Amino acid sequence: TMRMGVLTSGGDCPGLNAVIRSVVHRATADHGDEVIGFMDGWKGLLEGEYRKLDLDAVGGILARGGTILGSSRVQPAHLRDGVERARGHVAELGLDAIIPIGGEGTLKAARLLSDAGLPIVGVPKTIDNDIAATDVTFGFDTAVGVATEALDRLKTTAESHQRVMIVEVMGRHTGWIALHSGMAAGAHAIVVPERPFDIEELTARVAERFEAGKKFAIVVVAEGAKPREGTMAFDVGGTDVYGHERFAGVARQLSVELETRLGKEARPVILGHVQRGGTPTAYDRVLATRFGWHAVEAAHRGEFGMMTALRGTDITLVPLAEAVESLKTVPVERYDEAECVL
Ligand code: F6P
Repeated sequence: TMRMGVLTSGGDCPGLNAVIRSVVHRATADHGDEVIGFMDGWKGLLEGEYRKLDLDAVGGILARGGTILGSSRVQPAHLRDGVERARGHVAELGLDAIIPIGGEGTLKAARLLSDAGLPIVGVPKTIDNDIAATDVTFGFDTAVGVATEALDRLKTTAESHQRVMIVEVMGRHTGWIALHSGMAAGAHAIVVPERPFDIEELTARVAERFEAGKKFAIVVVAEGAKPREGTMAFDVGGTDVYGHERFAGVARQLSVELETRLGKEARPVILGHVQRGGTPTAYDRVLATRFGWHAVEAAHRGEFGMMTALRGTDITLVPLAEAVESLKTVPVERYDEAECVL
């Protein structure tokens, strides 16, 4: 039997609780392991704050959004003695495995600690679906569902008022949520960060629709999208205290620009964290549960320095080093399928 520590770090994501539950079920019920959960991400490991996780502790959390362990953006690399502190607590607690669940930043920290000799099996998480080493991340399906429902709803009000709705969805570096929700809801234009947009082209696309007698238009834009250099005045924003991009609001800026250019009322709608809250879809619960199960199995086989990944329909393990190498951007072939990507 083993003693394992699990933690959730970085932005939350529907399905985190399903992973925690799955780890606890597989480890404690099937292997007779002991599991503890570190509080608020790496912070809990660095400060030695944790709680025991048994079957009771994870009862009823499968369908619950957020994370019962809490999360933070604190990372071992932020502290000069971060790695040593983590190592100290792992030794003190007699842990044989640590399962961090997180996105890009978390997996980078996982790699750092793994390189320092700690026994780590990572689980990828992001609603953005942009981790290259896995075909899909849990949370994405939920986010796309929320965005699609919002787009469906916005269509009816847009039509009543003959407006252009510019709907901003999440996606700092990639347009996966924009592409999939836009396709699912039949948006009239989709704007992604991968390809800077031309405002003239976007204006022409919407204008054509009105000229063809349609009464409204829906534009989906990923929050990280930017105009092609020199095509319109644009405030990209800055960074927050953690160095993360703080966007100035592409939907708001586009709505002003389109309203002026088209002479039609335009409204920005920013979906924001609504996309990350609430209950995960069945798909995300299943994927999260499979990741948790396989992370425990990997730990029992002593396969550390790895991350669970979905490849096709199978769960595999990939080296953490590979996991943080590159982002999975939307391939251009997908733009054509959606018909309306700029
Ligand atoms: O990476 C997930 C994500 O939701 C991005 O889509 C978004 O840009 C970012 O996190 C928002 O971060 P925060 O919760 O810190 O505002």
